[in-house]
Amino acid sequence: MYQPHAARRSRLLKQIGDGIALLPTAQEAVRNADCHYPFRPDSYFLHLSGFAEPEAVLLLDGRSGKSILFCRERNPEREIWDGFRHGPDGARATFGFDEAYPLSEMAERIPALLADCGQLWWPLGHDEAFDRRVNGWLDAVRSQVRSGVRPPAHYGDLRALLDEMRMVKDEAEIALLRRAGEISAAGHVAAMRAARPGMHEYQLEAELLRVFVGSGARHQAYESIVAAGGNACTLHYVANDALIRDGDLVLIDAGCELQGYAGDITRTFPANGRFSGPQRDAYEIVLAAELAGIAAVKPGAAWPAPAEAALRVMAQGMLDLGLLAGTVDGVIESGAYRKFYMHGVGHMIGLDVHDVGRSKLQGQWRSYQPGMCTTIEPGLYIRPADDVPAVFHNIGVRIEDDVLVTADGCEVYTAAAPKQIDEIEALMRGA
Ligand code: GLY
Ligand code: MN
Ligand code: MN
Repeated sequence: MYQPHAARRSRLLKQIGDGIALLPTAQEAVRNADCHYPFRPDSYFLHLSGFAEPEAVLLLDGRSGKSILFCRERNPEREIWDGFRHGPDGARATFGFDEAYPLSEMAERIPALLADCGQLWWPLGHDEAFDRRVNGWLDAVRSQVRSGVRPPAHYGDLRALLDEMRMVKDEAEIALLRRAGEISAAGHVAAMRAARPGMHEYQLEAELLRVFVGSGARHQAYESIVAAGGNACTLHYVANDALIRDGDLVLIDAGCELQGYAGDITRTFPANGRFSGPQRDAYEIVLAAELAGIAAVKPGAAWPAPAEAALRVMAQGMLDLGLLAGTVDGVIESGAYRKFYMHGVGHMIGLDVHDVGRSKLQGQWRSYQPGMCTTIEPGLYIRPADDVPAVFHNIGVRIEDDVLVTADGCEVYTAAAPKQIDEIEALMRGA
């Protein structure tokens, strides 16, 4: 049976030679009093383990090729209160680790494993508390130097290796991302169907959550943005508590998280189901820019290609609307376009909504390759100003899809959320 987490561990083991990799999951966080935020495992840890219980630490030993998990023991009393724990034996059997031990054995076992290993990899500097624990384990090795034991001579940031692995998604990840995209798109469709002037933004957020949770995706990948009217011009608007008025555009930026994988979709639609003339003009520019950005996503394309393609369309549109004067090259070179489009065209997406991965290697732009997933999300945000035609004031439009680079182009796996004007209007009419 194909076990994606075990396959990823094998790939990492090949890269660490005779070294050891140590990786903790995330810390639990108190929300208030004795209530915690929902526990979310660390993304790197989840990538390599699939194991979702708090406190766990994964150790990969390049010399033996073994994956070793340290985790909570079973505890009948705690399990009555907090639910099932796999315990070391269950974790080993279910997740395919070679060995698994209780957390209480880390203090003895980890220094013994670190002795004489060539190099140690961990998420260096990521979490002070874990850095201190690593130091403690290394001190335990150093204290035995006189009996001939050596601590590792080299240290490396494990995230640098894992970032490269996570940047290109494997089959199991692609399946989860596609499903997260589908569920997220269904949430947007439900919100469009439900929208009416006179509702509050949070009532549309409730539609999104109804679909996400009802589809088995218990969490949002990030706080949903439901922004009516001028609120759409605040990029990270999350208050979601305003009244939606007749004539408003509603911008929704929302995606579910499914088994750790993020969806991230933005759609913008008229609250009353009909785009006004100026709304339509602004919308068509952003849609054309989004499509141009998507068309530029293909294997071998240089990193900035989608951003450049989308920006040229956006700049031309700003000139056409009379928001700016000059030429396309002129407003791009001067940066004048940033008054209305002030963010990047997109970002990698995966276990984190703004996923890991470096856009340059040795100072050179890298190119897209099959298995990478990125968003494409241009936007036009027109805040009221004296030098801006009044008909466009408070129009905010963003259109965002999630895109998988394929062998010969790309797949827009969030396409089920409509974005053509006639499709949106038909959906909202109940057609
Ligand atoms: N929802 C965050 C983003 O679009 O990047
Ligand atoms: Mn988004
Ligand atoms: Mn995004």
